[in-house]
Amino acid sequence: MILVTGGAGFIGANFVLDWLARHDEPVVNLDKLTYAGNLETLASLQGDARHVFVQGDIGDSALVARLLAEHRPRAVVHFAAESHVDRSIHGAEDFIQTNILGTFRLLEAVRAHWSSLDGADKSAFRFLHVSTDEVYGSLAPDAPAFTETHTYEPNSPYSASKAASDHLVRAWHHTHGLPVLTTNCSNNYGPFHFPEKLIPLMIVNALAGKPLPVYGDGMQVRDWLYVKDHCSAIRRVLEAGRLGETYNVGGWNEKPNIEIVHIVCALLDELRPRADGASYSTQITHVTDRPGHDRRYAIDARKLEAELGWKPAETFETGIRKTVQWYLEHPGWVANVQSGAYRQWVQAQYGAA
Ligand code: NAD
Ligand code: TYD
Repeated sequence: MILVTGGAGFIGANFVLDWLARHDEPVVNLDKLTYAGNLETLASLQGDARHVFVQGDIGDSALVARLLAEHRPRAVVHFAAESHVDRSIHGAEDFIQTNILGTFRLLEAVRAHWSSLDGADKSAFRFLHVSTDEVYGSLAPDAPAFTETHTYEPNSPYSASKAASDHLVRAWHHTHGLPVLTTNCSNNYGPFHFPEKLIPLMIVNALAGKPLPVYGDGMQVRDWLYVKDHCSAIRRVLEAGRLGETYNVGGWNEKPNIEIVHIVCALLDELRPRADGASYSTQITHVTDRPGHDRRYAIDARKLEAELGWKPAETFETGIRKTVQWYLEHPGWVANVQSGAYRQWVQAQYGAA
């Protein structure tokens, strides 16, 4: 079996659902269930013996040691993190605690477990660390996309905390020999995405008749990847990645935010037209820019393709259509994540609007 951390969050839950849809290897899912963790996303696994959910903190060394001893996973796939840049600007404490200290404690518990293994179990063991392209900082408009050897230049408290975790993972390999793999992926989108992030926020605000808040001029560029393609990349790296290597994961889909918002609006205009016949794009409003806002991210994913033969299955056009359709078909999931805690965040970040 494998141990997944953060498997009740957006990408982790998609990974767990896809994993168990493909084969029967069980998953132990360790998740603290912060505001971003949502067991409803995993409702289809209720009563499924292949999925063992444990509510807990990756920083709880005794708990992690017990889970490793009891379940003896062949791999740990580490998604758990605080992941929202804007929240890291409002307060970075949780980011430091989970992304840095939590990853350190997890690495130590995993190292102790791995050291106790023998022979084939020890050599087959893997620790896969899921990270982000944001550790590389911001690209000039005409600069080449990030390769794995790009310097680390994190600019937000979030990306700095992820960069620190990447360095810890690297050091645990070089110093202690821990069999690690790291993936650095671009912006994901798709089903079960918490509506504090750009794409789901725009969909739910549009449908609710609310303003669509675009930061600054909206010309910041992100490189978007459909979440299930990220999951397939992680599976492939886990299966065949070279130990100690990092792999950039991306979809060759660079787009400025304002274009993303217009695409979402056009799809909604087609699939769920407004009663008054106007376009959802009339709801777009430009709001104060994010402090320290990175202008451009772009991933060069050629290493992953050349070494491991991975390619995304979705184009942006197919992936965004599936995503908008998914949100239209799952108003109950959206309503349930828009809890009291969610409303407080929206109030703090966007005011009364
Ligand atoms: P998310 O915020 O949706 O989910 C994070 C999950 O981790 C939640 O279920 C939360 O409850 C859990 N968690 C948080 N702190 C924990 C702790 N101390 N112990 C145990 N569980 C804890 O995040 P996501 O978007 O699914 O991102 C998953 C990973 O992928 C993160 O490491 C993130 O940095 C990375 N990543 C995300 C993106 C993206 O676009 N979302 C892109 C590249 C990489
Ligand atoms: P986000 O989804 O928060 O991901 P990240 O900051 O990790 O890239 O934001 C994606 C882009 O969208 C980013 O450039 C910030 C911008 N953005 C807005 O313009 N308005 C919003 O309300 C949000 C949440 C993001």
